[in-house]
Amino acid sequence: MKKANILLILLAVAVINSSAQTKKPISAEQAKMNKFVSGLMAKMTVDEKIGQLNLVTGGEATTGSTVSTDVESKIAKGNVGGIFSMTTPEKIRKTQEVAMKSRLKIPLIFGQDVIHGYKTTFPIPLALAASWDLPMIKNSARIAATEASADGLNWTFSPMVDISRDARWGRIAESSGEDTYLGSQIAKVMVQGYQGDDLRKVNNIMACVKHFALYGAAESGRDYNTTDMSLDRMYNDYLPPYKAALDAGAGSIMVSFNDINGVPATANKWLLTDLLRKQWAFNGFVVSDYTGVSELIEHGLGDLKTVSAKSLSAGTDMDMVSEGFLTTLKKSLQDGKITITDINTSCRLILEAKYKLGLFDNPFKNCSEDRAKNEILTPANIQAARAAATQTFVLLKNDNKTLPLKKSGTIAVVGPLANTKANMPGTWSVNADMALVPTLIEGLQNVGGKDVKIIHALGSNLTADATLQTNGTMFGREIPRDNRPEEEIIEEAVKAARKADVVVAALGEGSEMTGESASRTDLNIPETQKRLLAALLKTGKPVVLVLFTGRPLTIKWENENVPAILNVWFGGLQAANAIGDVLFGDVNPSGKLPVTFPQNVGQVPIYYSHKNTGRPLADGKWFSKFRSNYLDVSNDPLYPFGYGLSYTSFTYGDVKLSSNTLSKDKSITATISVTNSGSTDGKEVVQLYTRDLVGSSTRPVKELKGFQKIDLKAGESKNVTFNISENDLKFYNSSLKYVAEPGEFKIFIGTNSRDVKEASFTLK
Ligand code: BGC
Repeated sequence: MKKANILLILLAVAVINSSAQTKKPISAEQAKMNKFVSGLMAKMTVDEKIGQLNLVTGGEATTGSTVSTDVESKIAKGNVGGIFSMTTPEKIRKTQEVAMKSRLKIPLIFGQDVIHGYKTTFPIPLALAASWDLPMIKNSARIAATEASADGLNWTFSPMVDISRDARWGRIAESSGEDTYLGSQIAKVMVQGYQGDDLRKVNNIMACVKHFALYGAAESGRDYNTTDMSLDRMYNDYLPPYKAALDAGAGSIMVSFNDINGVPATANKWLLTDLLRKQWAFNGFVVSDYTGVSELIEHGLGDLKTVSAKSLSAGTDMDMVSEGFLTTLKKSLQDGKITITDINTSCRLILEAKYKLGLFDNPFKNCSEDRAKNEILTPANIQAARAAATQTFVLLKNDNKTLPLKKSGTIAVVGPLANTKANMPGTWSVNADMALVPTLIEGLQNVGGKDVKIIHALGSNLTADATLQTNGTMFGREIPRDNRPEEEIIEEAVKAARKADVVVAALGEGSEMTGESASRTDLNIPETQKRLLAALLKTGKPVVLVLFTGRPLTIKWENENVPAILNVWFGGLQAANAIGDVLFGDVNPSGKLPVTFPQNVGQVPIYYSHKNTGRPLADGKWFSKFRSNYLDVSNDPLYPFGYGLSYTSFTYGDVKLSSNTLSKDKSITATISVTNSGSTDGKEVVQLYTRDLVGSSTRPVKELKGFQKIDLKAGESKNVTFNISENDLKFYNSSLKYVAEPGEFKIFIGTNSRDVKEASFTLK
């Protein structure tokens, strides 16, 4: 290891030790819990303690080739602490009853990947982030918690708060995108939504923040790949959302699969003990990811016994599916590789979680058939999912007021994604009932009404290559294939287009082309679909591209050639109706991109809050020799972070600061007037960015520090005010101290990260 690296790590440890929180006095409630857990642990054998550290799958959804076996007999012997991927009060009651027959009757915890809603599926997380609507996002988690807890569950493997700046990585769809501030705000409200104010309440579930840590920075965007990152980037950009979720009270955290600077997270003591426990004082429990412990063998850290001991001593408390803990920890204890304190510490944390959930008082608290019948898929929940989806769509282009559509005339709805139910809800919607999901055609007809005539043609397959289509439509998300020659399929769609007043082209990705193990090196809309689009444009009819995607796509050609583009991501159960609401103008689109869209894949990773370099390219230039740029493409993104249009237009005044100097412990305000200068009511996300002009380390050219989503009636103006205090200007300096450094700052306010008004102030 290089000297500089060793120094940095020593520095990190020093910071951790110096900032470790002093122990707070414990509350009466905590004292009661400690007494209860200590009493229980005094009765437990080593085997029973190790049993609590074992998490098995109930098999309803699996994400690896290993599946748990003999689950019932293991539960009866006290060899299981929790189960995930098993639902319904009936099944969960039956399983909990087995635990109640074990010697110490310790209840099981029941988890699942409740990622974006439960049966009432909400838009995928990247889409939710595009709403910039924190109360709505919180409510989506609340509804998910109510439904999941009514169906037997008390623990969710969400929120996923990994920052991702690499569109090749399929799991960007499960993230809140590229930005630390936005991601942290969302992390916080998701936890609050799931957990409510008291985990003992029947409709609250425990959150599990994932994937700790830096999973979104996998090299070359390939899933599960190595992460190698500077402490500057870690502390300032990637770690804050995990911390925000934990500060909001998340009861558990899941370790990521990846290697971090040479040590996989699951066995990374620096990460799981020094940072998480000592510096952040986290007091919930840590669960591995699916077979994360046994995968350390492939990482090259030793055999199952060795890697299990390493994981436990690093700080992994619960082993998901590997059964390395169950089958080897006792031997490691006898061999002196781990201590009984290691086992006790983890066991206590898991028992505490069950206590906090009220499971010792009532192990069957989530087993109510009545709740399952009355609280899942209620009309109110379904309506909330529809309203939520309308907030997530991003209008990328709308020339000649192509949108909104009229509720009359003939619309040709073409493309492989126009007539599918399975493709609508999005990746990780394991509980969605496809029969309840309207297709886009159905949604448009529902909203358009009787005066709209819809004609449909497939137009193209999802991809020309059948294998790619199969791999991109797994888990029952099939899209039927048409085996006729491509030209014939396109010609049929062109004929339909000629008969129509307007063409809606439903194109993009299949929903399983993002998500876990769904990385891509090509970020284009598949070529066969692009050929269809070109043929549709040639008819001269107005074409609206309704773009389905779980990641930023490279749609430069489409941006140049298609008059209107609405990015709809994957919008959950009600996606189709919500798309109808927006296309026909019942709802004015207001989503803003939570990720930068690149011009081409070679620009990736591209993100707005980059560093300046010593040779920045002047604004408006494409190429200058000896500047930081490319020969073949400008540095500009296709669409910047925070970008999104509306059916109306917004005009910004100048930024007015209450003072040009900010003193420590004081704040200043920045006010801007925003006017709806069009003729339609609308919502605008007003965004605040800052730049620290001179620092002891290099600072990003822009950093989001606040936003407000406001309603403006046509013609209306509002003053939007942001408070700025020293705290907003803090960052981790090269000694990893969290400081604000006196000096000049710029402030930017605008409609996206590029189009802004600016002002300056000095921090004294
Ligand atoms: C994923 C996790 C998920 C777990 C359990 C893993 O493959 O990485 O996000 O929570 O499976 O389903």
